[in-house]
Amino acid sequence: MDKAMAGIINVTGYAGIECARLLSSHPQVTLATVTGRSAAGHRLADVFPHLADSNLTIEEKLGEVDIVLVAMPHKESAREVLSLIEKGIKVVDLSADFRLKDETEYNEWYGVSHPAPQLLSQAVYGLTELYRNEIAGAQLVANPGCYPTGAILAMAPAVKQGLIKEYIVVDSKSGVSGAGRSLNIKTHYAEANEDTTAYALEGHRHLPEIIQELGLLQPDKKMRITFVPHLVPMTRGILSTCYAPLAGKITAQELKQIYSDFYSEEPFVKVTDTPPHTKHTRGSNLCLIHPTVDGRTGMMVVISCIDNLIKGAAGQAVQNMNLMLGLPETAGLEAVSVYP
Ligand SMILES: NC(=O)c1ccc[n+]([C@@H]2O[C@H](COP(=O)([O-])OP(=O)(O)OC[C@H]3O[C@@H](n4cnc5c(N)ncnc54)[C@H](OP(=O)(O)O)[C@@H]3O)[C@@H](O)[C@H]2O)c1
Repeated sequence: MDKAMAGIINVTGYAGIECARLLSSHPQVTLATVTGRSAAGHRLADVFPHLADSNLTIEEKLGEVDIVLVAMPHKESAREVLSLIEKGIKVVDLSADFRLKDETEYNEWYGVSHPAPQLLSQAVYGLTELYRNEIAGAQLVANPGCYPTGAILAMAPAVKQGLIKEYIVVDSKSGVSGAGRSLNIKTHYAEANEDTTAYALEGHRHLPEIIQELGLLQPDKKMRITFVPHLVPMTRGILSTCYAPLAGKITAQELKQIYSDFYSEEPFVKVTDTPPHTKHTRGSNLCLIHPTVDGRTGMMVVISCIDNLIKGAAGQAVQNMNLMLGLPETAGLEAVSVYP
């Protein structure tokens, strides 16, 4: 069988170039064409020497493809996606443009009018573990945000089983690559190194995404969620510690069994006996989850861990792409984490 042809729009950002790295060794998909505004006309291997074997040139416009991974900033992404969808091409969009189902909510949180609201109803939210069947039949998949991936996977079993009251606190720590490759004073070495800070206390844009998806798992309840992200001095990784008051009595062992059963068939989600480290997922598509109970306070505590650029972006995009192309879900994603 011929290999499927994939393209990447915006290979010059961290999410885009990580898609290129994963596709460069994909057994059943050829990376056929890539675009990137600031490096158009240059060889991909010259701009990103870790892809030294690539023969591709970074183009201004995409060539012929079966599927495209779009890794543009929000708003710009929707314009590209609209044009691809109109041509009948399958798309995984890594931006936030098609994650929220409510156009008004998007406009409020992102401060712009949605450039392609007519596509919102057909976009499938790309958290593979929750929407596998819908993703397989979709033309447009909205790849989840990095923080929401860790938070939703951490809380989905408990919310779905009605184990907790309607209040959750998500405390997340992210590496600096989560802010992208574009220059930003907050991510300068001298600012971020040896520093840790909370940000977006007034409400981070990933909050409505977490509320939307956990809410869909318990439509009769109105989830109240406090989400506080932190920037920590590492390149990759997100560690989320989620707290929620339990609705009834349950032991840590029983909770762990519920989580293990919920994710028993999942190739990329593992329930752990001890709290995971960000180094345990670095470079892999894994999400590690450690659920436990604080018996003194009746609080459930769940810690999840992902690589923001893999399960939180490019890896999940490839996982979704595989499903959309009818390929094994794990194809091209078998690499184990880089440790230490
Ligand atoms: N970083 C993560 O962990 C992560 C995780 C999940 C999802 N995402 C999403 O993935 C997308 C890309 O994120 P990223 O982290 O890769 O960002 P990034 O590293 O900052 O890359 C963004 C790139 O977009 C290009 N760009 C900016 N404005 C543009 C415009 N108006 N028109 C065309 N190109 C433009 C620039 O490339 P040029 O310099 O070549 O112009 C810039 O380098 C975003 O939507 C982001 O939300 C990122």
